[in-house]
Amino acid sequence: MDVIIQSNAEMAARTAADLIARALSARPDLVLGLATGCTMESVYDQLVRKHQEEELDFSHCRTFNLDEYIGLAADDPCSYHYFMRHRFFGAVNIDLANTYLPDGMAEDLEVECVNYEKLITLNGGIELQLLGIGLNGHLGFNEPLSAFRSRTRVVTLSRVTRSQNASLFPKPGQVPRRAVTMGVGTILEARSCVLLATGLEKAEIVARAIEGPLTSMVTATALQLHPACTIVLDEESAGNLRENDHYQRMLAV
Ligand code: GLP
Repeated sequence: MDVIIQSNAEMAARTAADLIARALSARPDLVLGLATGCTMESVYDQLVRKHQEEELDFSHCRTFNLDEYIGLAADDPCSYHYFMRHRFFGAVNIDLANTYLPDGMAEDLEVECVNYEKLITLNGGIELQLLGIGLNGHLGFNEPLSAFRSRTRVVTLSRVTRSQNASLFPKPGQVPRRAVTMGVGTILEARSCVLLATGLEKAEIVARAIEGPLTSMVTATALQLHPACTIVLDEESAGNLRENDHYQRMLAV
């Protein structure tokens, strides 16, 4: 695991965007795993800027998002479909036919989950998976006690997650109770992972995820098992790490 600590949130988002841009330039038909959440907004802003100013080309790129709420249509402003289209897809030259998110409105959600996994495999697997982290350590919507080998499936959202995401809905009671998420096993199969976390409120969970013991109670500890995982932080979210100096030195050599 590499831990990169930047001085502020903007620099951290730039670093995450640089890692994606480098992978995409090396491989224009990159299969990219994408995430949502407020932290990701600045990553997408940076990628849009790179597309506009540096001609970063998304025309051959394929994307798979981590998750979607159940019961929200793609045109619902609170859905992740809407978020992706408005924050990113609509602002770069990606072919919408090559962008995939789980369908939270699918009639048969079990079939939807199986098909999502198949689609990832058919596309050759995810090369780089972008991740955020929830206050309870979730990845995607893999809440505490998600099996490290879990696959794409229907999950019940925890109270912490529903209240963390409530500000993004007109009324807190409107946060859906369930979602479809890639599994922890699905995420761990990505050839590389980049997790971005910023801000003081993430400091405690970031330290547990990176330095704590492996436990399905904190889903993000599963990343300790991943052979090519980069964690990008700002100084605030890195504040509770014990081996902070060591991580900085590792990258300096
Ligand atoms: C949601 C998403 C997660 C994301 C989390 C963090 O719950 N399903 O994939 O990591 O939000 O959100 P934020 O960046 O707003 O803290």
